[in-house]
Amino acid sequence: MKALVKERAEPGLWLTDVPEPAVGADDVLVRVRRTGICGTDLHIRAWDGWAQQSIRTPLIVGHEFAGEVVEIGRNVTDVTVGDLVSGEGHLVCGKCRNCLAGRRHMCRATVGLGVGRDGAFAEYVVLPATNIWVHRVPVDPDVAAIFDPFGNAVHTALSFPLVGEDVLITGAGPIGLMAAAVATHAGARHVMITDVSEDRLDLARKIGVSLALDVSQATIADGQRMLGLREGFDVGLEMSGHPSAMRDMLANMTHGGKIAMLGLPSQEFPIDWARLVTSMITIKGVYGREIFETWYSMSVLLEGGLDLSPVITGRYGFRDFEAAFADAASGRSGKIILDWSN
Ligand SMILES: NC(=O)c1ccc[n+]([C@@H]2O[C@H](COP(=O)([O-])OP(=O)(O)OC[C@H]3O[C@@H](n4cnc5c(N)ncnc54)[C@H](O)[C@@H]3O)[C@@H](O)[C@H]2O)c1
Ligand SMILES: [Zn+2]
Ligand SMILES: [Zn+2]
Repeated sequence: MKALVKERAEPGLWLTDVPEPAVGADDVLVRVRRTGICGTDLHIRAWDGWAQQSIRTPLIVGHEFAGEVVEIGRNVTDVTVGDLVSGEGHLVCGKCRNCLAGRRHMCRATVGLGVGRDGAFAEYVVLPATNIWVHRVPVDPDVAAIFDPFGNAVHTALSFPLVGEDVLITGAGPIGLMAAAVATHAGARHVMITDVSEDRLDLARKIGVSLALDVSQATIADGQRMLGLREGFDVGLEMSGHPSAMRDMLANMTHGGKIAMLGLPSQEFPIDWARLVTSMITIKGVYGREIFETWYSMSVLLEGGLDLSPVITGRYGFRDFEAAFADAASGRSGKIILDWSN
């Protein structure tokens, strides 16, 4: 089968022929239809410091996918050949304290699809049935392909009650954009999103946020004034990974405000801890999805009319992966989809 492989420990990805994966008794074999390009895939392609530390070559990359089940292992009962499925890309150990207690999303030994084991940028991918999500509610295959990052957005956005609240999102990358759609849909009063890319702020405007603010031109405090807020934001969603965004968010929260932090900073940085203490602010770190609780929420949010179509800005055949990756790396696009249908 064709697959996008990190063959060598140097920048680049290679489209090559590799053997089809073997299907174990508890596994599901999926014919991949669409995949989404994630920041993680860009790191692996660029072979930056994180990738050099985390990746062993050769590796089939990619973890955001949707496809059709073509074979099931003999122990698999709830997945059927022909089902449209996506997959949870965090493979958990099943043995640690959290796994045994049913908190699989807090597994201390998670292995990432397309990071710690062969991934989904291929004609076929195999996963344990326990990582498969069957789309029982009809869904656009492009949207099905991005359930993994959509799940990051849902997990973060629904970490704290939003109804009637004023929400600040820092970072209008694909995940920040999806979080904005979720927060708006879930009944926030104002949703303000910040970025330094006008293209991405324009995408946020299409989603229908209250204010999309360019923080290279104005401050979050200016944004508060434009919205007529008097006491700061109630809920903050940090989705940029940039220290200045987190600091400015902290300075603009109401007393007792809640922050869910998904953005991954590349190194340590100082914040105003005294402000955090005296304003009684809660910060929650968010990693991945709350597995199938989040997958359930995603399906029903879409069924209830949540529209993610403005977030998908590029579609390419898998043979044009170089152009697709360049588009995704431009910092101006929304989600980029690779089509593996032919
Ligand atoms: N915790 C997790 O499980 C998890 C999973 C996926 C991604 N992430 C992280 O979440 C973040 C969002 O992911 P993404 O794919 O949307 O990333 P992205 O890099 O595409 O988006 C980040 C956005 O932040 C913007 N930005 C830069 N400086 C800013 C500032 N000072 N204020 C506001 N915005 C600023 C950038 O222009 C960019 O549009 C990244 O940091 C990513 O590494 C975390
Ligand atoms: Zn991803
Ligand atoms: Zn575990």
